Amino acid sequence: MRVPIVAGNWKMHKLPDEAVALCQALIPRLGEFHNREVVVCPPFTALASVAKALEGTGVALGAQNVFHEPSGAYTGEIAPPMLKALGVKYVILGHSERRQYFGETDELVNKKIKAALEHGLKPIVCVGETLEQREAGITESFVKGQVEAAFSGILADDAKQLVVAYEPIWAIGTGKTATSQQANQVIAVIRKALESLYDGATAAAIRIQYGGSVKADNMAELMQQPEIDGALVGGASLDAESFARIVRYDD
Ligand code: 13P
Repeated sequence: MRVPIVAGNWKMHKLPDEAVALCQALIPRLGEFHNREVVVCPPFTALASVAKALEGTGVALGAQNVFHEPSGAYTGEIAPPMLKALGVKYVILGHSERRQYFGETDELVNKKIKAALEHGLKPIVCVGETLEQREAGITESFVKGQVEAAFSGILADDAKQLVVAYEPIWAIGTGKTATSQQANQVIAVIRKALESLYDGATAAAIRIQYGGSVKADNMAELMQQPEIDGALVGGASLDAESFARIVRYDD
């Protein structure tokens, strides 16, 4: 059985004090949660203070990016051991905003995934098509290609550590959610691709989230779909009440 994973991607929001205040508002609203993993991914500059605020809460800490070398002359980059030392457990990789604005390629994303795994960080790997690709009818082949590139050279045991986030780019921050059926259909294609790369048991163990305008009022419906194992939440994760309601979608 896959344990659903709900992660908040805070993107480039929240100063350290604001991030701590958000955690302090969130934790009591989450109460006790069972049978799911909850992750928050603040910006790098708030990781240390959020790590403290999350101590003993069961909420895991995630980062939004990492470089693929363990150390060296790479001005401005952050290495996997640096995240590990702050108590980071998950790292979002290959988000469409990084692909679009910072030129991240499938090859680079694959390198980052391998580096993260090597240092005990669990990657949340983002894939998803543009509106043009959806309209051209190439969503499934495009996303399948992104998944194959991301998992290239990764052994089955390591692959099980990964979480995939299917985030159609046209649904990010636009208020346009993919319908739960559309999301489920592409996620099923991703699982099939994983089955071809590995085997049925491995594919069945890998969690695949949906992301893109997830809100408290559409989460329950998304989660009713058999292939959807949680959500990667942007805007709605910046509000304690709405993120808590997303986590507690089945209350
Ligand atoms: P929104 O939830 O704001 O659409 O963002 C989704 C996202 O990009 C999460 O990584």
